Amino acid sequence: MSHLRIVGGARLVGRVRVTGAKNSVLKLMAAALLVEGTTTLTEVPDILDVEIMAELLRRMGCDVVHDSEAGSVAVTVPAQLNHRADYDLVRRMRASICVLGPLLARCGEADVAMPGGDNIGSRGLDMHVDGLERLGAEVVSEHGYLIAKRNGPLRGTHIPLEFPSVGATETILMAAITAAGTTVIDNAAREPEIVDICTMLLAMGADIEGVGTSTLTITGVDSLRPVSHRTVSDRIVAGTWAVAAAVTQGDILIENTRAEHLEIALDKLVSAGATVLTGPDSIRVTMDRRPKSVDVVTLPYPGFPTDLQPQFITLNAIADGAAMVTENLFEARFRFVNELARLGADVRTDGHHALVRGKPMLSGAPVEATDIRAGASLVIAGLVAEGVTMVHEVHHIDRGYAGFVGQLQSLGADIQRLSL
Ligand code: UD1
Repeated sequence: MSHLRIVGGARLVGRVRVTGAKNSVLKLMAAALLVEGTTTLTEVPDILDVEIMAELLRRMGCDVVHDSEAGSVAVTVPAQLNHRADYDLVRRMRASICVLGPLLARCGEADVAMPGGDNIGSRGLDMHVDGLERLGAEVVSEHGYLIAKRNGPLRGTHIPLEFPSVGATETILMAAITAAGTTVIDNAAREPEIVDICTMLLAMGADIEGVGTSTLTITGVDSLRPVSHRTVSDRIVAGTWAVAAAVTQGDILIENTRAEHLEIALDKLVSAGATVLTGPDSIRVTMDRRPKSVDVVTLPYPGFPTDLQPQFITLNAIADGAAMVTENLFEARFRFVNELARLGADVRTDGHHALVRGKPMLSGAPVEATDIRAGASLVIAGLVAEGVTMVHEVHHIDRGYAGFVGQLQSLGADIQRLSL
């Protein structure tokens, strides 16, 4: 069990390099299942979720070599796969559901444990299931497993999504790549991570039109080939550093990132008073005063990302003024404000709205990370809280931020990882 001990008062100054996106690399690893042979991914972040996905693929019979120093993963997929994803791994990482589409396409059957709390038809998996059924699969839920089967090939069809779900778009996309005929996904998600997986699938030999738009047209192909692919940079990690610079009145050059993937979030930082300079693959955020409050409304891409919402609550907690933060994707995300309140933040929630009244100073206290982004946001809050903040349940942060503590130290933070 490890904890983070932070002494507040740092101004973060220096440079950080961002690696590949967690939310892309996990899906790219799953997409490797579509073809026999070795698929190699680069810019792979050294995070726990990559290890969990590697273990899941190994259980299916793949050989997975994760070179954390080189930042690469090589997935060698055998001719015959075991098509089962067990509960012990799926419960550790909800994103494991992304093996459902490729396993069904490749093996004709997929047995994937349901992440806790989910049922067929419940919010969370209904669009995945509906999409696969429209492609001709039979999907049932038995003994905690989602069991999808096809008799013969899946058949291309029209699939309108009622919401541009990232996960459902990926599941349907991966299932449709080798289906017979043409599949049209309407109201598809447009996140950079969706563009990334489409780019890899195209290199593998897939036929996809409309990449980056909300209509994806996929014409099934008979065969695919394994490829080498560079993972798209993690816009959420970059955004987290950008907020950290603004909150600590610092100056951070964020390298290997794409400003166009963070347009609205960076605009918000400018409204808060930061100076944002963008280059072809870098962003520099400088702040020389207390931030001003900024309202935020989360929406699917290209809207403001829900994965940066907790970081902006932290910014508003120390800002001059009051702001309304509206969460339209995951209400449970507001659970973290109870922890932020332990540091003295003034946040009142009502349904999917949070009213944040900024305070000039927070005050260090023990807090618990409730998820990946909440964890990072509590660390940022601790950096500007007076005195000592202890962040517990650090394993959440390890799931999404590679080398976080070392990077913070190199930027001048007084932070230590303690094993108790
Ligand atoms: C992914 C990201 C997550 C990010 C989110 C939105 C990964 C591993 N996670 O999650 O970090 O916050 O996109 O950008 O990539 N929904 C349904 N039915 C479904 C599917 C989703 O009702 O079948 C609902 C969900 O409950 C949620 C909303 O749609 O309220 C968004 O979900 P989705 O876009 O699918 O997000 P994830 O793929 O789970």
